[in-house]
Amino acid sequence: MRGKFITLEGIDGAGKSSHVAWIADWLRARGRDVLVTREPGGTPVGERLRELLLSEPMDLRTETLLVFAARQEHLAMRIEPALAAGRWVLSDRFTDATFAYQGGGRGVPRAALEALEQWVHGGFQPDLTLYFDLPVAVARARLEAAAGAPDRFEREDAGFFDRVRTAYHARAAGSSGRIRIVDAGQRPDEVKKQVEEVLLSFCE
Ligand code: TMP
Repeated sequence: MRGKFITLEGIDGAGKSSHVAWIADWLRARGRDVLVTREPGGTPVGERLRELLLSEPMDLRTETLLVFAARQEHLAMRIEPALAAGRWVLSDRFTDATFAYQGGGRGVPRAALEALEQWVHGGFQPDLTLYFDLPVAVARARLEAAAGAPDRFEREDAGFFDRVRTAYHARAAGSSGRIRIVDAGQRPDEVKKQVEEVLLSFCE
């Protein structure tokens, strides 16, 4: 039987990545064979594209094409083979991030993104997406408190992240229930509880 594809989304600083490991363990404890991966990245080519995307200034269309190039590689080399083998795939970001960041944040026309999405993955979508929602000011405060230099996206201003967040909300509203909104502003154990409830009903 084909596996399920679960993705995590959120603006930078929303804390989604800190939930990846326990979600994978939670699914494994229920008998699923889980592949944990991320975008941009997840393959040797994708990880090199990630380095470029997070550090090099570049033309907006180049940026958009590179996230889809990394995604094509990811789908062909890792996601599709894993799902076909019955494994579950848990990816930290996927195409919703492109609609939010390149579309909402940077203003790439939706029609262009839809054309690339269609070319790279046709009607294929995640089975479930957990969107970690947090007000921009709170997310930025978390980023500032974090160690390490901010990357090219994390250095964007609050207006950019407001547009990204708005785009995520619009996408969730039009997703027919695929995208589940998690209130990431609560205590970590509360956030975990929300995620667990979504996972329980998804796995039933
Ligand atoms: P991460 O920090 O969650 O690993 O994601 C890396 C950055 O890449 C994040 O700031 C969002 C950005 N990104 C896009 O702009 N478009 C995309 O399609 C993806 C997958 C990520």
